[in-house]
Amino acid sequence: MQPRFLLIHVICLLAVIRLAKTDLVKDFRPPATPLLLLNPTIQVWSKGDRLNDVPTSHWIESQNMSLVGLIRINNGSKILRFMGVTDESIEPMRQIQVRVQPTQTLYVFQSEEVELNLTFIQPAFMHSLELSSLPLGYLIHSVRSLSSEQEISVQIYIEISADFVVNSLANDQVVWEEARPGEHRWQSYSHAPFQTHGDRIKPDWGYFYVASRSRFLRDSTQVNASLSRQAFIQGTFNLPQRDDSQGPRSVQNGYPASSFQFDYGQMNQNSNSYSSFLVLFHDEQLSINFFSNYQRPYWTKIYTNAQQLLDAAFQRFSDIQDEANQYDKMLIDRYTNVAGDEYATLLSLVHRQVTGACVTVWNDERQEAWSYMKEQSSDGDVSTVDVISPAAPFFLTLGPEYLRRLILPLLAYSNNETYVRYKLPWTPHHLGDWPVCSILSQEQEQMPMEETGNMLILLAAIAQRQSKQIDYLQPYVPLLQSWADYLNDSLPDPENQLCTDDFEGPSAHNANLALKGIIGLGAYSILLSMGLGNQSQADVYMKQAVDFAYAWTLLDWNGQDHFRLQYNASDSTWSQKYNMFWSLVIGLDDVLFGELRIRDIELAYYEKKMNRFGLPLDSRGALAKLDSSMWIAAMTRGNTEQRQQIINNLYTFAHSTPTRIPLSDLYDTTTNEAVYFTARPVLGGLYALDLLAI
Ligand SMILES: *[C@@H]1O[C@H](CO)[C@@H](O)[C@H](O)[C@H]1NC(C)=O
Ligand SMILES: *[C@@H]1O[C@H](CO)[C@@H](O)[C@H](O)[C@H]1NC(C)=O
Ligand SMILES: *[C@@H]1O[C@H](CO)[C@@H](O)[C@H](O)[C@H]1NC(C)=O
Ligand SMILES: *[C@@H]1O[C@H](CO)[C@@H](O)[C@H](O)[C@H]1NC(C)=O
Ligand SMILES: *[C@@H]1O[C@H](CO)[C@@H](O)[C@H](O)[C@H]1NC(C)=O
Ligand SMILES: *[C@@H]1O[C@H](CO)[C@@H](O)[C@H](O)[C@H]1NC(C)=O
Ligand SMILES: *[C@@H]1O[C@H](CO)[C@@H](O)[C@H](O)[C@H]1NC(C)=O
Ligand SMILES: *[C@@H]1O[C@H](CO)[C@@H](O)[C@H](O)[C@H]1NC(C)=O
Repeated sequence: MQPRFLLIHVICLLAVIRLAKTDLVKDFRPPATPLLLLNPTIQVWSKGDRLNDVPTSHWIESQNMSLVGLIRINNGSKILRFMGVTDESIEPMRQIQVRVQPTQTLYVFQSEEVELNLTFIQPAFMHSLELSSLPLGYLIHSVRSLSSEQEISVQIYIEISADFVVNSLANDQVVWEEARPGEHRWQSYSHAPFQTHGDRIKPDWGYFYVASRSRFLRDSTQVNASLSRQAFIQGTFNLPQRDDSQGPRSVQNGYPASSFQFDYGQMNQNSNSYSSFLVLFHDEQLSINFFSNYQRPYWTKIYTNAQQLLDAAFQRFSDIQDEANQYDKMLIDRYTNVAGDEYATLLSLVHRQVTGACVTVWNDERQEAWSYMKEQSSDGDVSTVDVISPAAPFFLTLGPEYLRRLILPLLAYSNNETYVRYKLPWTPHHLGDWPVCSILSQEQEQMPMEETGNMLILLAAIAQRQSKQIDYLQPYVPLLQSWADYLNDSLPDPENQLCTDDFEGPSAHNANLALKGIIGLGAYSILLSMGLGNQSQADVYMKQAVDFAYAWTLLDWNGQDHFRLQYNASDSTWSQKYNMFWSLVIGLDDVLFGELRIRDIELAYYEKKMNRFGLPLDSRGALAKLDSSMWIAAMTRGNTEQRQQIINNLYTFAHSTPTRIPLSDLYDTTTNEAVYFTARPVLGGLYALDLLAI
């Protein structure tokens, strides 16, 4: 080609790339919309099509976390409700749009006279340890006139219920105070960290703050919700005086709430938009009890107290808003380019579902930041290895250091650095019951090969993305060696045991599980060659892994067209060999499986096994997991038709499942219904395609 033509060719190509649509799907309907997921216990979702269809609530289905928003137009000639529901019969405002970006949820509402935008932002930027660890969010509203004829007046009312800080509306009591003007503080009267623990909990420890410093803030109060609402509706200039009693009082007794009234006065169509924001912040005081070592939130390392943090939150608001816009745009562009707008829409939906299930603390003893993940809904387990592992693609692409921080507490526990003697020869399952780590080794839910494979694979994957920095693993050389030897001794044929699909019960000779162990052994070899051992040791383990991979094909081949569910199961059984995805993540696909063609054979077979709404997990039924289905999509590499089919199935599940709960990771491929699991961080696994693309 002549250079001139080449240039034209390149220009045309660039034009095509620029024209390619990089945006979310416009009419996407989330099964539940994430509003504020400050940490694993403050989780505010909207489970209706519109923000004003249903009360805002926790993922725990019976627990409201109630936010109410009202707009008063033309001095009360019209009052509309844009958020939550109220006893008072108030017409809903028309919702024009809902859009879920990685760190923001944006709503647009309109009446004849006014446009109102409502935006929830969290600084969950994975490149920033400080910002991603803040249990803090902004609730921003902005209004502008749509009326061409007359000036209109607009007032906004936003109410945050005391139900955020109690588990039982009848039995748990709250106390409250105005810490500084416009800065409301709530706490549970029992206020005892680490007393309440488990899965289905709201935070009855620490302090919950709601604050505004807007120049449009007319008034704010903490009083029975119905009183402040009535005052706003009737147009009383000021909200009722703060309730003197200030508790302790059960929430059911009068439903006390924080109420904020903003007054924008008169505006005409030429006016710009006006906006104000609230900061919502959970000062946990203590975040995690790690085997009697009480660990504080990471931000306490930077700020001396909540007031100082709140000051910074106000000062940095517009920077954070700009950063959120840039961060979201960068990710949406990237994900659209990786696999299209449905893929980008799914990844945007789950970003805060992953980060919101984690907390980051400052470990004073070790002088380093540690992170923890809550299993959510299936269990209140702290830092379950086979929950961190499915979520890991999210962290490996956006923040490998975050993943390393999640693993540090597990290594410390396994290595007898706590008062517990950990006696099992394989990797533990988890650390305790949120937010208390105290589990004894005999109390572990045991998944020997699953967790051991997971741990070695994650350590290798992190090191590969951190320039082979493995010095921190030196104290764990004997521990990791013992885990690798456990795998070596148990392969190629795993005994009867649980794997991560524990809802199916234990099984022996599990073929997909064996792949996890084989790849785990290869991962250990990678760690040895990075300096954890020497090259000749590394070669020994890699040779073993290669031999086991070959043995696997002999044990599991059904003699015809695919590999079985278990080595000894009938030839018609099959399963998603989703663990092979991890060999691609750590670059061992060629070494272990290159000549065996397992991946091609399996992918071709899955095409025959599709149900109406997707590819089931295996021949035992119609259930499918979203994370592992996406790993199958990632395993297709070049085969975009099969890949896009799977993405479309998962998108369709999110968009049209009748089950209105925060995105589940387990669904029925014949009915499109979710199976209970909800709001779990394992959906970080959807980032698999992005992980292999970079
Ligand atoms: C949740 O809010 C709705 C609407 O206000 C109310 O009917 C319901 O009783 C509340 N449930 C709880 C457990 O607070
Ligand atoms: C707004 O309505 C209140 C109560 O109905 C009334 O007292 C007040 O004068 C009105 N203000 C304006 C500017 O019309
Ligand atoms: C609301 O958001 C839309 C879309 O981003 C924007 O065009 C509009 O100006 C915003 N309106 C207000 C009142 O901020
Ligand atoms: C709020 O409601 C409770 C329970 O009904 C009542 O005891 C209290 O007096 C009310 N507070 C105000 C300021 O009316
Ligand atoms: C931890 O202590 C137990 C019980 O003494 C022992 O069996 C185990 O080997 C120890 N683990 C390590 C990594 O030293
Ligand atoms: C791994 O297991 C095989 C038997 O399956 C054994 O021959 C070999 O010595 C073991 N390797 C190590 C390093 O323990
Ligand atoms: C590699 O390490 C092993 C175990 O420490 C040791 O026995 C062996 O001599 C070493 N080999 C080389 C080539 O350094
Ligand atoms: C496979 O082996 C396990 C035990 O090793 C046994 O419980 C199971 O019944 C076997 N399945 C078949 C189909 O033979």
